[in-house]
Amino acid sequence: MHVVPGSNEPLAAATDLLVIAVFSDDPAKGSLMKALDRALGGAVASAMEDEEFKGKAEQRLQLVTLGKLRAKRVALLGLGAKKSLGPSGLMTLGGQTTRLGNAVSAKHVTLVLPKELPTGIDAHGLIARGAALGAYRFTRYLSDKGRKQTVQTIAISSADSKHGVDKRAVARGLVVSEAVALARDLVNEPPQELYPATFAKLAAAEAKKYGIEAKIYDENQLAKMDMNLLLAVGNGSEKKPRLVHLSYTPKKAKKGPTVLVGKGITFDSGGLCIKPPSSMDEMKDDMGGAATVLATMIAAAALELPIELHGVLAMAENMPSGTAFRNGDVIKSAMGRTVEINNTDAEGRLVLADAIHYAKGLKPKRIIDLATLTGACVVALGPYTTGVFSNDDDMAERLLEASRRAGEDAWRMPLNPLLKDQLKSDIADTKNTGDRFGGAITAALFLSEFVGDVPWCHLDIAGPIWSKKDSGAMSKGGTGVMVATLIEMLS
Ligand code: BES
Ligand code: MN
Ligand code: ZN
Repeated sequence: MHVVPGSNEPLAAATDLLVIAVFSDDPAKGSLMKALDRALGGAVASAMEDEEFKGKAEQRLQLVTLGKLRAKRVALLGLGAKKSLGPSGLMTLGGQTTRLGNAVSAKHVTLVLPKELPTGIDAHGLIARGAALGAYRFTRYLSDKGRKQTVQTIAISSADSKHGVDKRAVARGLVVSEAVALARDLVNEPPQELYPATFAKLAAAEAKKYGIEAKIYDENQLAKMDMNLLLAVGNGSEKKPRLVHLSYTPKKAKKGPTVLVGKGITFDSGGLCIKPPSSMDEMKDDMGGAATVLATMIAAAALELPIELHGVLAMAENMPSGTAFRNGDVIKSAMGRTVEINNTDAEGRLVLADAIHYAKGLKPKRIIDLATLTGACVVALGPYTTGVFSNDDDMAERLLEASRRAGEDAWRMPLNPLLKDQLKSDIADTKNTGDRFGGAITAALFLSEFVGDVPWCHLDIAGPIWSKKDSGAMSKGGTGVMVATLIEMLS
């Protein structure tokens, strides 16, 4: 599917479906709407009245043109009030356009944007990203791959014939959408296919396509590096852990690298603290943090961002077996801190601790880790919101601001030091798990001990990594959440 900037005279477009986005402030008033109504002999105004179409968000109205326009069909799509349309609404508009096209088996769709879009945000980029992602489907294991996807092109044009659509913004939006689609693909891939060795190879191969260097450490090398936490988590599985280090080092880079660290548990059974079946269903998504890091690096390289960026992907499969790590084990991390295991299902923080230690060796200016870390974070914030933990208020604020601009929901969470007590161990430097209440916070506090003073944000994406439904720019399954936010922040 292609998303392209369209002509400045959308009513003349020969297209299967003309989608006109309309604010509820003045649904029938614009010159384009008047011209459309005239062309269709008053059918638009009367249908709007009959169906009480007022341009409210989610409201739609469809007409066939019966040869009166070169477009076969016209759909009005409500945007709601001008003042309440923000970045996520723009992205949704793109996604809804694609979905409308597929619903009427259109091949070519033209979207007409209203004259007055919100200013100061990347409106055209957001719409393009949404339109492309609205077509995302994971078809690899379907026998009938053609199902329901008819739309081949979406042309984005504007009712504002003077200014038209920002071609570069559309192009950038599409770079991000491709990276997001890669992250979705990786999350959707079944865990018997995507395990540490295959994930590492795939990540390195994808990265190299964009001039990103990739180094893979296997279990033997990890043993030499004292990555005992990562090795312990993977020890119950026949599929041994990997650590992947990606480096994007453009010539004109600003000083001081940013290091992204990703949790890459390719399947989380819980280990010996095995999960009940219903909690295990989606646990192939437990590598979503690592997928996000890879996708972000690729988008950064494709956009030629002038920053030095590294990715550290900690990959393991958490399985129960005779070789699995146990409750009661005391394991010495790469940093030297000893960890008493009191829950093998709290494995993400263990692999991240060793990966963060590796990241610190790269002399980072800042570290951002991404992880499907805790169910507690989903309980706290619901399934759509990323939890942001940070030891640096400025950095956290910049990340939250980037998430707003990128149309992705994120919320700051406290790193309350009072909860550190819960992690005290009698025989080691720390335990890996605290109490049930505040579980997302104790997980973040555990990580903070390995981070030290480096400015750091931890993004708990356990909720938003997965979507239960197809809607707008979202698709069932892996979401690729936070790729766009990170690109916005790094840009
Ligand atoms: N991968 C899970 C967290 C998770 C839960 C991700 C739901 C996506 C959806 C993580 O490894 C885990 O099992 N965390 C435990 C921690 C607990 C044992 C302290 C949890 O959240 O229950
Ligand atoms: Mn777990
Ligand atoms: Zn996990």
